Amino acid sequence: MKYKALVTSEENKSFLNTIEERDTSNLPNYDTLIKVKYSSLNYKDALSASGNKGVTRSYPHTPGIDAAGIIEETTGDKFKSGDEVIVTGYDMGMNTFGGFGEYIKVPQEWIIKKPNNFTLSESMAFGTAGLTAGLCMRKLLIHGLKPEDGDVFVSGVTGGVGIISLMLFKKLGFNVTAITGKLDQEEFLKSLGAIKVIDRNTLDLDLISPLQKPIYSGGIDAVGGKILANLICSTSQRAAIACCGMVGGLSLDTSIFPFILRGLSLFGIDSAESTLDVKEEIWNNFSSNWKLENVDKNIKDISLNELPIEIDKILKGNQIGRVRIVYG
Ligand SMILES: NC(=O)c1ccc[n+]([C@@H]2O[C@H](COP(=O)([O-])OP(=O)(O)OC[C@H]3O[C@@H](n4cnc5c(N)ncnc54)[C@H](OP(=O)(O)O)[C@@H]3O)[C@@H](O)[C@H]2O)c1
Repeated sequence: MKYKALVTSEENKSFLNTIEERDTSNLPNYDTLIKVKYSSLNYKDALSASGNKGVTRSYPHTPGIDAAGIIEETTGDKFKSGDEVIVTGYDMGMNTFGGFGEYIKVPQEWIIKKPNNFTLSESMAFGTAGLTAGLCMRKLLIHGLKPEDGDVFVSGVTGGVGIISLMLFKKLGFNVTAITGKLDQEEFLKSLGAIKVIDRNTLDLDLISPLQKPIYSGGIDAVGGKILANLICSTSQRAAIACCGMVGGLSLDTSIFPFILRGLSLFGIDSAESTLDVKEEIWNNFSSNWKLENVDKNIKDISLNELPIEIDKILKGNQIGRVRIVYG
């Protein structure tokens, strides 16, 4: 069967993204073929589409760590053709052709049945970014974080993970400080529930002090680097931070004091390799007690042809919110 896909190929050490016609017979030999109806753009996809060998080892390749669609055929025993399903992470979009194509072929162990009360289109408004925000929130709630403990923060807040983290904190009754490099988005961030918006440049500095004013009872960090290093030192007693990103830097030069004098907990999140039952728990939450009514309003819908431009934007840190790919 012929289908269209974005194909990243390597030419003279540079990487090109083109829309090509492919054949499903060239998809990997896994048990389940899915007709993709929606995908979404994540930072990791942009790394794959720009030749980051830590994400994708060999090219040509079709990125896309997210896909929502309908089972076309399966030789497995968990699903039947016609089932509406969601696939995020594991190896999809990394070294297995991903959701930036109209078809994917994956093992049934990577697939989740779409929850009731939730559409395929809604699921890709969240995508891996939303799932990651949900996984961060799950860790913080298991830790015991409550709105009455004090203010929380979200960094990288205008990005995919950040924006859903902000909406989720607001939904659960927390007072959120939004940390951003885009101060022109202050009004927008306040409309989503931020009580305060601060410039990330005030934190993107060598460690200001090992024990700073205890402002936050917790937070979700999507940037890492110096910003996270300073936020760690600005937490109150028994605070908890969930961290998942590295757009602001790979190293973490901070202080041990917040851990041993304030009892801080720092949780790391890896959404791709989370177990299927935990992923299911988060999707079920998004379709029920964590339902975010406004998520669909803050999404940009694009076609496959528009994807290369959006990939470039996310790599430059210029994306605001989520981008959903809609197939015909
Ligand atoms: N661990 C996991 O499982 C997991 C899952 C999903 C994503 N991630 C990671 O989480 C991070 C965010 O992903 P995303 O999909 O939300 O990406 P995104 O949409 O590109 O958002 C990243 C945001 O970070 C801020 N930012 C950009 N460049 C920065 C810099 N140099 N220093 C500080 N902040 C900067 C920007 O927000 P402001 O302008 O508002 O500051 C940007 O919108 C990425 O590193 C991604 O790889 C990890």
